[in-house]
Amino acid sequence: MSALNALNATPTRYLITGAGGMLGRDLQSALSHDTGRSVTALARNELDITDAAACAEAVAGHHVVLNAAAYTAVDDAETHEDMAMLINAGGAENLARASAVAGAVLVQYSTDYVFAGEGIRPYSEDAPFAPGSAYGRSKAEGERRARAAHPDGTIVLRTAWLYGEHGPNFVRTMTRLYRELGTLTVIDDQHGQPTWTRDLAAQTVRMLDAGVRSGTLHGTNAGATTWHGFARAIVENLGGDPATVVPTNSAQFARPARRPANSVLAHDGWARIGLAPMRGWRAALDDAMAEGVFG
Ligand SMILES: NC(=O)c1ccc[n+]([C@@H]2O[C@H](COP(=O)([O-])OP(=O)(O)OC[C@H]3O[C@@H](n4cnc5c(N)ncnc54)[C@H](OP(=O)(O)O)[C@@H]3O)[C@@H](O)[C@H]2O)c1
Repeated sequence: MSALNALNATPTRYLITGAGGMLGRDLQSALSHDTGRSVTALARNELDITDAAACAEAVAGHHVVLNAAAYTAVDDAETHEDMAMLINAGGAENLARASAVAGAVLVQYSTDYVFAGEGIRPYSEDAPFAPGSAYGRSKAEGERRARAAHPDGTIVLRTAWLYGEHGPNFVRTMTRLYRELGTLTVIDDQHGQPTWTRDLAAQTVRMLDAGVRSGTLHGTNAGATTWHGFARAIVENLGGDPATVVPTNSAQFARPARRPANSVLAHDGWARIGLAPMRGWRAALDDAMAEGVFG
């Protein structure tokens, strides 16, 4: 099938951008479980998503584009907003345009940081944007531009608090610090959803296999906790005493970018398309840590 209109057919040819990143690596594994799929995985040095012509060339011939490439340095983005915008908004737009031409579905990963995080209820998929940081603004703009360029073939999958085997993350950092210090001091005034990249990758595949071709969904593990609660669970899984994790607040840990205080994402979108949401964050963390890959 040439230039297959994957919008109506079973996708078999996948392109992963940002394939060297934490999520990109787990997407490669998730897609490799089924030999019926062919996967092109391009790391940054193989495809720079800010290059529109290179995107068009790379996307051609694929049915699905999984955009795991992003400028993810949240604090640095405050002083490099142009660069964050170029990659997170311009790159998403390049891939959406190329996907529209190729008849491919684009999965654009986004973030809870598109919301202010001031609410008390989980954010629904259609809640209005109110980003409080440069990174959040760039990701919100990426969502807007991708949808505008390819309305019938863009799936926005928002996620949060990612950890995984192949990248620096909170689980790895807390594991190292706990082993070094035997105690941790962690903020307890930000609420969110720790999410294992492997679960997100598997949910992405389930979603595509179920025939989803556009819309917005929330790809986070279920439930919610604080960074303090997350750290307590990590210490418990290391065989330590969770009481050694001391609570503090964000004011004591001032950072350049504002973080949402409550950015828990609602999962109603999954039921609307007949799929179960991702499992609870604690079960995912327990399984991830049982593999012993965080140190
Ligand atoms: N990590 C989180 O907690 C979190 C939370 C919410 C949403 N997300 C979203 O989830 C997605 C995956 O995040 P992640 O944690 O896997 O990020 P990551 O590990 O930082 O991976 C991102 C990858 O994109 C690459 N990249 C950067 N600029 C690029 C460009 N111009 N062209 C091509 N590749 C480029 C990076 O390469 P270099 O390393 O060489 O720069 C890196 O390999 C992103 O959309 C992110 O915004 C992440």
